[in-house]
Amino acid sequence: MSVVQPLRDRSNREAALKSLYDDLAAKSLFPFWATASDVENDEVRQLMATQKAVPFVWEYAKDVEPVLRRAADLIKMDDSERRSVICINPGLAPKRASVSTMYTAYRLNDPNEIMPPHKHSPSAIRFGLTGKGNFTGVQGEDIVFGPGDMVLTPNDTWHNHGSVGDEEAVNLSVLDLPLIETLNAIHFDHHYTELVDGEVVAKKVQTARYPADYSARVYGHGGMTPRFVDHKRGSGLSSPMYVYRWDAMRDVLERHKDWDGDPYEALMVEYTDPTTGGPVFKTITFFAQMLRPGEKTMPLRQTASLLVAPFEGSGYSIVDGKRYDWKQFDTLAVPGQSWCEHVNGSATEPAILFVASDEPAQKAFSLYKKWGRDAQGDVVRIL
Ligand SMILES: [Fe+2]
Repeated sequence: MSVVQPLRDRSNREAALKSLYDDLAAKSLFPFWATASDVENDEVRQLMATQKAVPFVWEYAKDVEPVLRRAADLIKMDDSERRSVICINPGLAPKRASVSTMYTAYRLNDPNEIMPPHKHSPSAIRFGLTGKGNFTGVQGEDIVFGPGDMVLTPNDTWHNHGSVGDEEAVNLSVLDLPLIETLNAIHFDHHYTELVDGEVVAKKVQTARYPADYSARVYGHGGMTPRFVDHKRGSGLSSPMYVYRWDAMRDVLERHKDWDGDPYEALMVEYTDPTTGGPVFKTITFFAQMLRPGEKTMPLRQTASLLVAPFEGSGYSIVDGKRYDWKQFDTLAVPGQSWCEHVNGSATEPAILFVASDEPAQKAFSLYKKWGRDAQGDVVRIL
């Protein structure tokens, strides 16, 4: 037989609980017995509301490009060395993150503007969208790049961005900054120096120390590695090949366009470190993914988070049951653990996606897993 608690005791308990929750919050402690549904205390509820990335599309032509132009008019190099816009995931705002571990930023360079060199612990890539004169100097290799070319600025490697020539140029960058921020391991260095006649001299411009085609000349032929150069460039922590040209990647995709490919990933090609065969960075990796005309991938779920930038063609992706349309230069956020399938919207043209993934970080911690749905809709473990 249950004993009915006297009213006075119940209200005492409620008052005592409220006081306990208030004290816990004030002392930066969390009541681990609490569950979202039975907690009325506001502070506990706020603590339990963890932020989670959501699927999202940033539309380049409609949303990104117009604000890039306005920023280019209003913000000059004298105002700031940085004039990028960062894609903020609505589920993670105000944190600067497009998915939990990475962000994409877009940048429009006016003709002939080059920023001073700096380096930092987050690793980044630049991917050319428009214009032939995007410029990044990396550790003394002056790289001019155009649409589809990918340039690395690895962890702790001196680099300076800008553009050369008389036309404006737009690129996107992908950084692992939110991951490095979570690990509290971010550091920046803006004090660039060179040795001049035995003296350390502060410099605003990196002196070119390598031929402009160094990356292609040394590493541009798969399976053949010169022994007469030092492969430890910059910090030595990442791929020593600093630029991957679109023509070469496009050629690889084209040569395999009639192959079956993978039912879940279609034709996916990874950018690799030529000295290891592994990803270009230890944290994040990059792919070009071709969907043949009318191709539709089978549903895939993986622990890795993805940032997907269509470079050629248009189509849509279904992420956790919802359709997200995309076209050239947009960015689609696919949070880790989402079900995702891609569809090329054209029956005649291929669609090519530039994809960033935090797969290497997940593999380093033995966390990377992958599932698919077969033709019957049953879930199968792929990895
Ligand atoms: Fe940078």
